[in-house]
Amino acid sequence: MTHVLVCGGAGYIGAHMAKGLAYAGCKVTVFDNLSTGHRAAMLWGEFVEGDLLDRIALGELFATHRFDAVMHFCALSQVSESARDPYAYYRNNVTGTLNLLEAMRHAGVDRLVFSSTAAVYGVPMADHVDESHPTLPINPYGASKLMVERMLEDAAGAYGLRSAALRYFNAAGADPDGEIGESHAPETHLIPNVLRNALGLGDGLLIFGDDYSTRDGTCVRDYVHVTDLVAAHLLAMSYLNNHGGAHRFNLGSGSGYTVMEVIEAARKVTGKPISFSLAPRRAGDPQVLVADSKRAAEVLGWRPSYEGMPAIIESAWRWHCNPRY
Ligand code: UFG
Repeated sequence: MTHVLVCGGAGYIGAHMAKGLAYAGCKVTVFDNLSTGHRAAMLWGEFVEGDLLDRIALGELFATHRFDAVMHFCALSQVSESARDPYAYYRNNVTGTLNLLEAMRHAGVDRLVFSSTAAVYGVPMADHVDESHPTLPINPYGASKLMVERMLEDAAGAYGLRSAALRYFNAAGADPDGEIGESHAPETHLIPNVLRNALGLGDGLLIFGDDYSTRDGTCVRDYVHVTDLVAAHLLAMSYLNNHGGAHRFNLGSGSGYTVMEVIEAARKVTGKPISFSLAPRRAGDPQVLVADSKRAAEVLGWRPSYEGMPAIIESAWRWHCNPRY
């Protein structure tokens, strides 16, 4: 049985991954410091509470377990926070990952699937961004993820580490069984904020900028369902069985939705009125960010199964109506 260490497995995407791995027949150990994750999301596998910055705890973890592969979701991930406190981002996302990589090397674990981000591209110069697009991050969050990608490339050459950096576009939606979902505090993401507004929760929905050069003036994003991200990780882990090197894949649906289109879809799915106020542009927001995920399709055989915004919102709505945590 393949034993997978899921770092950050108590968080939004990591918890969906722990479930996906358990259902795929893998043995799962989650390592998480619970800084943003939830103990209540720990429904699959073993849970070890700890921090990647704690090298002693990491050493113990690898000394007492025999892992076949690692999936690494631990990160601080708020763009605006990263601009306010870049040291925290470099410490957690870069130093924390370096500690993990050294512990893996010491233990002889040579397969890693890493959560990267579309934020590595900065302000895109194309309607659809593929992996050959220049990487020019415009915030410390994107820069910290790109630094890790570079470390993975160097580690492949020097130590034979096999890795896949998966560049997520906008992760959205929730577990179809309603057991886990998206729950951040504070919540900064669009879809949860829209659905909380539909439920009469929150302090009022703001739309950050309606003067972009897009079809209705609001930003365009590529929303990809969290269970489709999980499927891509499983494919990437298998790919690394037979392929060395450091690989990079975009993960997006290839379709862009404006903020207004997301709100309109949410009105239809929920049947609720959703009110908002216009606010100035949010710092660091590119106007359009849509994936070209052909490489993941061709190399990994990955295709998103959720098509269109309504299906994504339906699954998120089920969770927000009945959140377990
Ligand atoms: N937005 C609003 N109101 C809100 C929240 C968001 O108008 O209350 C807008 C944003 O300005 C942006 C769009 O909705 O135009 C999407 O914003 P999100 O905060 O949901 O997501 P981001 O695109 O900012 O960021 C997400 C992840 C990042 C990742 C990025 C890559 O949070 O970690 O996708 O595409 F880097």
